[in-house]
Amino acid sequence: MEPADSLFYLQQKEERRTPIAEQLLETLEKESDEASEKSSDFSALQGFKSAWYSLPSAEKKNFKEDEVSECFEEPLLGSLETDDVKSTHNGEAPLESREGENPSIPKEKCQDSIGKGESYKSQEENESTEKLEKLNKMVRVHSYEKIVDDASVAHIPLKSCASIGTNFENFEPNSIYSAIKLNNTENTAMMEEAWETLKKSYVYYKGLPVGTLAAMDPTAEALNYNQVFVRDFVPSGLACLMRPASAGGDPEIVKNFLLKTLHLQGWEKRIDNFTLGEGVMPASFKVLYDSHRQRETLVADFGGSAIGRVAPVDSGFWWIILLRSYTKCTHDYTLSEKPEVQRGMKLILNLCLSDGFDTFPTLLCADGCSMIDRRMGIYGYPIEIQALFYFALRCSRQMLKPERDGKELIKRIDKRITALSYHIRNYYWLDFTQLNNIYRYKTEEYSHTAVNKFNVIPESIPDWVFDFMPLRGGYLIGNVSPARMDFRWFLVGNCIAILSSLVTPAQATTIMDLIEERWEDLIGEMPLKIVYPALEGHDWRTVTGFDPKNTRWSYHNGGTWPALIWLLTAACIKTGRPQIAKRAIELLEQRLSKDGWPEYYDGKAGRYVGKQARRYQTWSISGYLVAKLMIENPANLLIISLEEDKRISKPKLTRSISF
Ligand code: GLC
Repeated sequence: MEPADSLFYLQQKEERRTPIAEQLLETLEKESDEASEKSSDFSALQGFKSAWYSLPSAEKKNFKEDEVSECFEEPLLGSLETDDVKSTHNGEAPLESREGENPSIPKEKCQDSIGKGESYKSQEENESTEKLEKLNKMVRVHSYEKIVDDASVAHIPLKSCASIGTNFENFEPNSIYSAIKLNNTENTAMMEEAWETLKKSYVYYKGLPVGTLAAMDPTAEALNYNQVFVRDFVPSGLACLMRPASAGGDPEIVKNFLLKTLHLQGWEKRIDNFTLGEGVMPASFKVLYDSHRQRETLVADFGGSAIGRVAPVDSGFWWIILLRSYTKCTHDYTLSEKPEVQRGMKLILNLCLSDGFDTFPTLLCADGCSMIDRRMGIYGYPIEIQALFYFALRCSRQMLKPERDGKELIKRIDKRITALSYHIRNYYWLDFTQLNNIYRYKTEEYSHTAVNKFNVIPESIPDWVFDFMPLRGGYLIGNVSPARMDFRWFLVGNCIAILSSLVTPAQATTIMDLIEERWEDLIGEMPLKIVYPALEGHDWRTVTGFDPKNTRWSYHNGGTWPALIWLLTAACIKTGRPQIAKRAIELLEQRLSKDGWPEYYDGKAGRYVGKQARRYQTWSISGYLVAKLMIENPANLLIISLEEDKRISKPKLTRSISF
């Protein structure tokens, strides 16, 4: 069946809608139509949730912002790693000084709207099943409308990819519901253990929780795992946002974290004699007790203490993304509207949007600048950073106020969003057809009509790709730069591209197809491979520089990271394939808690606890919780996902006729 026929078929079947389903569909349509406008996006969640659950009057809790305002202080100069990191605040212009602006905006916790739907009780089962069936159909109709839309504009290779449109016939309307039902009854003890351990990892500053420790393994040397890492905190923060208020949801820790890290951004960041950009966010921070001054103090790392001294390019993007999640979930707009928060966002964006020598809209990066924070051959234009960059651009587009220089910045953001999505959707995309095109590329083409735009020599395609590429499936490759395509699969970049709608709905579906087709390679016995395949032998020696921690199928080099389960789950729900996530979660549940929540697993199938893995790694715990919270309540996805930007689904740019 062609997608268009399927759409027609479903539209016919859809006639018997319940009033609640009507409301939900309207909300979804509204959200899609107005995706580019801040107000619609934020209100869509509210509508979605209220349509999903008919709630009794929800308990509302206002945030005590004045408590947060007390938590800032001038950092202690010259202590430990702070030696080359001095404050520029000098105690002046405290971040909280304009606190309380816009008091008319209600501060509601999203958990109030979604919390009551956390479990589907038996007396409501029939009704819920019906609602979910309708929802399922409508979500699919909704996304297929876009696939049909897209087909006219973009991906010639995609049209011939076997995966597109085919899984539609196999779609199981009850899939979301069965996932919910099964998971609701299982592993309560594991969930409880996870919540308890997460709580124990809280880091306090002046009595307020401001983040979570990276790991709490009493048997291993702390190294820097006793710090709050910005990227690691994201799943912890999401878990606290998604957890129903009645069960202990905690948006306040997220708010405190966002303000605290914003404060650290304000420090002058110096490494040797060189000063880093103003917008750089820390990779991590910790709270120390200065017994001499008898007060707590903060120590932050902006890359100066990291292996290889690389600044974390991902931190700022994650910060913006989490800020949007917080706002979307709590409806507390006062945080993102604070002048200092607006400024923080602008500083991050200025680092990425400034004019230079670039001929690509992608962001040039050093190796080790993100989750893979050691040399692994990701220098250049790594997909993880490009996808996070795009996600952060779209999030800030919703939150930036068009006042003063804001308008100009918004224009630059819009242009970059268009250019970046065109570039990634076209040049990073690899499926069977595209691989065949590259295999037959001619080289040395000079004009703008070149087909082989980056002069990639077909002989540089590694052998493994030909076996790995299924007929049904495709993905965004790891890196594209002159004469270089890194064909490796990276999970984070691909999932973020789905969540941010950097890829088209058709591409998102095709990525899911790949995961199914290559399950043994990408998931195996434990989810999930951070990258596939591993570098071995000569490649390992030259690319990693003989890194003993990144030997083949270990750690960042083809190791397995349970923390990534939340990203896969979100992508699965977004593409209407929760059963894939459920399968992965089941695998993880068999071992993760028994093994003491390790940081990573080793081996081709992910069978062995990682050689140097910390136990009680916080994001292994919170990643699992977020995955469960989304499977139990798929509406939670909206906290971390963006609908397609209608303006770029029909780009003005057209492909070169020679393509
Ligand atoms: C390791 C990981 C990094 C993570 C940190 C803390 O350095 O490579 O991604 O943020 O540990 O868990």
